[in-house]
Amino acid sequence: MTADGVDLSIKLLNSYIESFGGLSEKQQKNFEIKQKHALRVADISKWMCEKLEFAEEDKNLAVVTAVFHDIGRFRQLMEHNTFNDLNSVDHAELAVEILKKEQFLTKLACNEEEENIIYAAILAHNKFDIPKKLGEKELLFVQLLRDADKLDILKVLTDYYSDRNAEPNHTLTWELPKSPWVSDTVAKEILAGKLVSKKNVVSELDVKIMQMSWIFDLNFRISVGYVLEKRFLEKIYDSTTKSDRIIDIYRKVKVFAENRMMG
Ligand SMILES: [Fe+2]
Repeated sequence: MTADGVDLSIKLLNSYIESFGGLSEKQQKNFEIKQKHALRVADISKWMCEKLEFAEEDKNLAVVTAVFHDIGRFRQLMEHNTFNDLNSVDHAELAVEILKKEQFLTKLACNEEEENIIYAAILAHNKFDIPKKLGEKELLFVQLLRDADKLDILKVLTDYYSDRNAEPNHTLTWELPKSPWVSDTVAKEILAGKLVSKKNVVSELDVKIMQMSWIFDLNFRISVGYVLEKRFLEKIYDSTTKSDRIIDIYRKVKVFAENRMMG
């Protein structure tokens, strides 16, 4: 993939978004959130590829993948009025469907290998586990997009948690009740060093614990370093009501992250 390909992918994304007419103010705002998210994930991907010393064409490929990774979000919102995949559609599958229908990868002159990588990474970006049976290079791009996506979501969330004047944002807190207690199942998962599963999350506090558990799912050491440098774990922890359980959980994720940097 060339640098011109990257520029074109951004133009294609933007004109695709503009092709939706008659948006309400709220839809317009949600569209902007997803558009900006995609571009920031692209920036983080670029930074990661530079750190990992990827070849120029691979870096561009990772950036294009990031630019398109959430392109399913716009139709999802228009047709189902939600970003919750469980109540609507798998937005990653929708993204691949749209890219094929719009022939965006043909417009970018992708070869077959590049197409396979882009589709594999997009399909895998929102799944609990990384799918098995990926080729070596597909796996690398899957891992990269999953990390870059999580790093940007952590940035958005921690900005939100740190801002005491922020308006309640239900897309970020999932409209769950507030609770001062971490659920037993959620605590058990994170204290065992496991990614917290969405199905066990029942309160706003559980959501925060789940977000802390993403540290276990980061594929690259540089991603863990990014979390530490930006103090994402501290920022989430600082936004919680303290209890022995929370203190234990915070210690667990923090030690894990620091060990990962030394190991
Ligand atoms: Fe996504």
